[in-house]
Amino acid sequence: MDVLTAIRMRRSTRKFKRRKPSKERLLMVLEAARLAPSGANRQPLVAIAVDDRELKVEIRKRCEEADRKWWRLAPLWFRQWAKEVGISLEKGFLTSAPYLLCIFGDSRAPYWLESVWLAVGYITLAATEQGLGCLTYTPGKMHFLNPLLRVPGRFKPVAIVPLGFPTAIRSNRGMCRKPLEQIAYLNRYGAAVFTGEACWPDVHIERSSLHLSTREK
Ligand SMILES: Cc1cc2nc3c(=O)[nH]c(=O)nc-3n(C[C@H](O)[C@H](O)[C@H](O)COP(=O)(O)O)c2cc1C
Repeated sequence: MDVLTAIRMRRSTRKFKRRKPSKERLLMVLEAARLAPSGANRQPLVAIAVDDRELKVEIRKRCEEADRKWWRLAPLWFRQWAKEVGISLEKGFLTSAPYLLCIFGDSRAPYWLESVWLAVGYITLAATEQGLGCLTYTPGKMHFLNPLLRVPGRFKPVAIVPLGFPTAIRSNRGMCRKPLEQIAYLNRYGAAVFTGEACWPDVHIERSSLHLSTREK
């Protein structure tokens, strides 16, 4: 699969089959993270692949607690959008996904956070290429991961990426992205030159409450 096809096919996966991906597939995904560029080539990423049932149960419990607190303070638009797309406080994917990739970054490295997120992007595409699904999950608090997984404090938790076979392949209909002319310009902001046919007309551009300013609605 070429990279643009992977970009077009990737969707967030929140429902996983029980079947565990082979070690080879897992390693390919981790290799993608390893080869990602990083600030000054410091390679700040550390990924712990968790497949231990007890650890996953504990991670789920702690994440649901943290998210419950976070959601109480979350803005209304977020709660409405989450309901629309079916995101709830039940984080079943944390126990159903065969692997949880717990992603950390070495906070002493320059641009560590940017570098780690770039590598997470690579992970999502490599997973797609391997026929797997994943989610970039960012719970309200993650510091509990350090003692739980025995990770030294200088490595800050960044995301949890559940990984496995999706129960269903989600199509890119409903992928819901802004049109190109709303995000890309030539030379000056607002110079709308990139109009016309979308390269991927099958990637649906939907008017979602998230994408529109109050004025546009
Ligand atoms: C930085 C970042 C944080 C995210 N955090 C969460 C999260 O905590 N929970 C969740 O269910 N999805 C999370 N997502 C997934 C997004 O909701 C999802 O990518 C977006 O709705 C677009 O849908 P798609 O990935 O299927 O194209 C996150 C994505 C990113 C890039």
